[in-house]
Amino acid sequence: MKRQVHICEVGPRDGLQNAKHMMPTEAKKAWISALAAAGLEEIEVGSFVPPKLIPAMADTAEVVRHAVKIPGVKVVALAPNLKGFQRALEAGVHKVTFPVSASRQHSESNVRMTPEQMVEEVRKCAQHPHPGVELEGAVSTAFGCTLQGSVPEDDVVRIAVALAQFCDGVALADTVGYANPAQVRRIFKRVKSEIGSKLEAAHFHNTRGLGLANVLAAYEEGVRHFDSSMGGLGGCPFAPGASGNVITEDLVFMFESMGVSTGISLDKLFQAREVLVKGIPGEPIYGHTPLAGLPKGFRAAA
Ligand code: COA
Ligand code: ZN
Repeated sequence: MKRQVHICEVGPRDGLQNAKHMMPTEAKKAWISALAAAGLEEIEVGSFVPPKLIPAMADTAEVVRHAVKIPGVKVVALAPNLKGFQRALEAGVHKVTFPVSASRQHSESNVRMTPEQMVEEVRKCAQHPHPGVELEGAVSTAFGCTLQGSVPEDDVVRIAVALAQFCDGVALADTVGYANPAQVRRIFKRVKSEIGSKLEAAHFHNTRGLGLANVLAAYEEGVRHFDSSMGGLGGCPFAPGASGNVITEDLVFMFESMGVSTGISLDKLFQAREVLVKGIPGEPIYGHTPLAGLPKGFRAAA
């Protein structure tokens, strides 16, 4: 069955960078294998940032080397600068995501660069040889920021347009869970009118419970690539107040019950959730569908 939407599991990166507990490397590998077995075709497995800054990401190179051996999985990592990009290439990733905040204050807190400096850093990476490796520019805090408050839409558009010049795809990210569906429709429409099909993905956090509503709004604007996190883990350590991503289990249930194929098996996803829980005991894990179970007579998208 052809996938009608594409889900990128970002739990091993967005989730674990903000978790209270550390997941051992072997447990990360087992979780990633279980996610792949459930049908996830794209997994953001970690980030190449200074280990002192985020100790939970120190083993990303080893995790990448495991993940690239799993057939059919696009292995993604986040990099905040050229050094991280070079480490990602060396480890053998298939795709690199660069976080470029539209909020000046979040940018300075997160990457110690202004948005303009960060755009230039991504340009430097794009000019560095990277055969076969895809680049994604993610406009973070595109819907508001806990440090700066509101983020002008013109800033979001300007950064997206800049990134579209040298990235293969652009994503809009609601890093702190401020977005609402009307705003999502408006901003996606505006950015799409500027960069067309380069606008690829949406990354939402469920901080105020609007994660799935925002996904649906973006879907209705033609977006077919979504980030989500198993168990609703997630959040940026440099954006106070951010909590978990859209929950993968509920996202897959939503699309499959709408008849939109994700290529992901819910039963196997629930098995992967058990692997996650075992790998990081004591960490709060969320999700409605896994707790309630599938509705009687439920049928996945044919
Ligand atoms: N990976 C590993 N080490 C790195 C690195 C990377 N990507 N980038 C820099 N370093 C090292 C430098 O070599 C230097 O080491 P030294 O002290 O031994 O000489 C040290 O870290 C400081 O380097 P500098 O370039 O001054 O970085 P900085 O302290 O200004 O930090 C970033 C800038 C971008 C590296 C940092 O802010 C960062 O990683 N931010 C991302 C945070 C994040 O992951 N947020 C959540 C996801 S959006
Ligand atoms: Zn995020």
